[in-house]
Amino acid sequence: MIFALIVAAGKGLRFGEEIPKQFLMCKNRPILYYTIKAFEDNKNIDQIIIVASPDYIDLVKSYINKYELKKVTKIVEGGPTRQLSVFNGLKAIKEISSKGDKVLIHDGARPLISQNIIEENILALTSHSFVCTVQADADTTYLSKDQKSIDSILNREELFLAQTPQSFDFDEIYKLHFEAFKNNDINNTDDASLALKNNRKVFLVQGNKYNFKITKKEDFHLFELLI
Ligand code: CTP
Ligand code: MG
Repeated sequence: MIFALIVAAGKGLRFGEEIPKQFLMCKNRPILYYTIKAFEDNKNIDQIIIVASPDYIDLVKSYINKYELKKVTKIVEGGPTRQLSVFNGLKAIKEISSKGDKVLIHDGARPLISQNIIEENILALTSHSFVCTVQADADTTYLSKDQKSIDSILNREELFLAQTPQSFDFDEIYKLHFEAFKNNDINNTDDASLALKNNRKVFLVQGNKYNFKITKKEDFHLFELLI
């Protein structure tokens, strides 16, 4: 079984609207709809699990009905950090998973995820347990420790920006999340970093620029232009 776990329990503090960014409307549909729909449309994805904060679970349920998203089997309560939201989703999958299952973990706030990236993640899982979508760095990149002046230039060839999906053998990533939770290490901003901390090799899959995360207003404007 291949699961998609979509995390949408954030508050969107950097975005700065009352309503969390993933619920803003564009062309008459919420951002989260576009994200879910990409996984719904992929023939290799069997089930979709959504993580949302308690206040928005009913709203997400209403989308599932209204837009007839048939692969969504669970809507789970989020936690105070992204990592804890993912862990809640993984716990819900654990109840229904069996050995050899895979999970693609994706940000609800990345609505322009392409079928190609989903396919590449699934393909990579046939030979790797830990997979991360990345975008090669195209710009000259500086290190600035005081954030005011340049300390050094980083080697662009070696730099990659993390995106999602980040995809895993289910049992492996569950184990790492469980251990991290037990050790009160709960603020990692993505899932591949848990693999890295545990000395696992993370295989890279190429993402693209369209798969940006809506973080600030300017990202939403770009999304509106693209959709
Ligand atoms: N997320 C989550 N639970 C949290 C925090 C984040 O499910 N406690 C989700 C967000 O909904 C988003 C993804 O993780 O889809 C990436 O997080 P981010 O872009 O940081 O979103 P927010 O945390 O909502 O934004 P901000 O950090 O600006 O508050
Ligand atoms: Mg955040």
